[in-house]
Amino acid sequence: MELVEKILKLKKEKRAIILAHNYQRPEVQDIADYVGDSIELSRKAMEEKDAEIIVFAAVDFMAESAAILNPDKKVLLPSAGARCPMAQMLTVDEIKRWKVLYPLVPVVLYVNTLASAKAYCDVCCTSANAVEVINALNAETVLFGPDHNLAEYVQEKTGKTVIPIPERGFCPTHLLFHPEEVQVLKEKYPDAVVMVHPECNAEMRKIADFIGSTSQMCKHAKESPAKTFIVATEEGILHRLRKENPNKQFILAYEGAICPNMKLNTLERIYSALKAEKHVVTVPEPVASKARKALEKMFELTQR
Ligand code: 13P
Ligand code: SF4
Repeated sequence: MELVEKILKLKKEKRAIILAHNYQRPEVQDIADYVGDSIELSRKAMEEKDAEIIVFAAVDFMAESAAILNPDKKVLLPSAGARCPMAQMLTVDEIKRWKVLYPLVPVVLYVNTLASAKAYCDVCCTSANAVEVINALNAETVLFGPDHNLAEYVQEKTGKTVIPIPERGFCPTHLLFHPEEVQVLKEKYPDAVVMVHPECNAEMRKIADFIGSTSQMCKHAKESPAKTFIVATEEGILHRLRKENPNKQFILAYEGAICPNMKLNTLERIYSALKAEKHVVTVPEPVASKARKALEKMFELTQR
């Protein structure tokens, strides 16, 4: 039996669903029940009332959020090593240090954080709803971590003071994009629409025609009358963009923009994870209950 067939059979037997992030390998996206951005995957995990197991093809913090929001389900991360380096950049000690400096200022954390950090914040956000979350808060100054580029973008969009914690947290994959390379592509494809993820730096955001989360890019590509798009985010998204828009052209703004952690989830690892019911993602309840409040607050403040 083919590996794909074996996974689908096992999935049915074990009442499992597979959720995959937009950066997953094409073959992983193709066997998933749902493919989406970080907020969509969290929502989907909560909606799946019948599933007993959630195979979360993404990285650690996304699977942790699913585990926090679904304490009665078994959440499996196909590769134990799939960890987001940006999420590791903000420790609890660092948050505590900033809270001492700004005791009355709310702490807003990007979902790209570990559960232990989320337990110390007031509300979470994703790249799709960060502006909405901060606009909804009754505060003119916020502490925001760990991505300093997203902090800067949100400050531009809301007019509020957004203090990045740590000062220069970043995504190593989005750091690879440079406006000079986009300029060269623009000369070759003058009608192309430039779509940029807010984890990119300010120079990249300046040359963008559209800024948004991965799924917001997919929506924009569908709705736009444009035929060519230059895409500044991780390469995995091209599979979905091309599948959903066969008559449009998508060019990666930098060919080496690969998140090695996202790519650790292979079909082989998904099969082994399902078979052995490994690697179970668990969050101790005292931490989970605090982190859950921050995630629920995000859902309460936003529609996305
Ligand atoms: P999205 O929420 O836009 O999918 O982003 C998640 C992420 O890890 C971006 O690098
Ligand atoms: Fe983390 Fe960047 Fe990979 Fe997203 S692309 S999971 S932020 S390292």
